[in-house]
Amino acid sequence: IEETLVLVKPDGVARGLTGAILARIEAKGYALVDIRLVEPDRDLLAEHYAEHEGKPFYEPLLEFMMSGPSVAIRVAGNRVIEGFRSLAGTTDPTSAAPGTIRGDFGRDWGLAVQQNLVHGSDSPESAQRELGIWFD
Ligand code: GTP
Ligand code: MG
Repeated sequence: IEETLVLVKPDGVARGLTGAILARIEAKGYALVDIRLVEPDRDLLAEHYAEHEGKPFYEPLLEFMMSGPSVAIRVAGNRVIEGFRSLAGTTDPTSAAPGTIRGDFGRDWGLAVQQNLVHGSDSPESAQRELGIWFD
């Protein structure tokens, strides 16, 4: 069975949306396999976001991700990687479709980084790599 890493990012935790986000994952029928509250350091985030190093939003992204705890969730289900990204909606919360997590709860706050509430792994390789980073 496929697994993915979902993060409720610091904005989602601070706004009290963790429960609402978990409810959508459960309502879709995916299984919560493991869950933990994490306050990541820079090394963890540099590993997680290695693909974005050098981009204009990289430093603001790391600062944002260190601004408070995230909830890391190991989620399992058939085609859960694709399925969770569909639940999350597109990266930019302004244009994310209503009905998605980002479309319903997110918006542009005019900051240097998109505060878009959640992360979901984008491939089986990313999922295995990221689950190792956040759970080991
Ligand atoms: P994740 O599930 O968090 O990985 O989102 P994603 O796959 O939709 O986005 P991506 O991996 O491309 O970028 C990681 C994170 O960087 C995003 O979730 C945003 O928080 C931020 N980000 C990505 N692209 C931009 C951008 O063009 N501008 C800004 N300001 N932030 C961005
Ligand atoms: Mg991504």
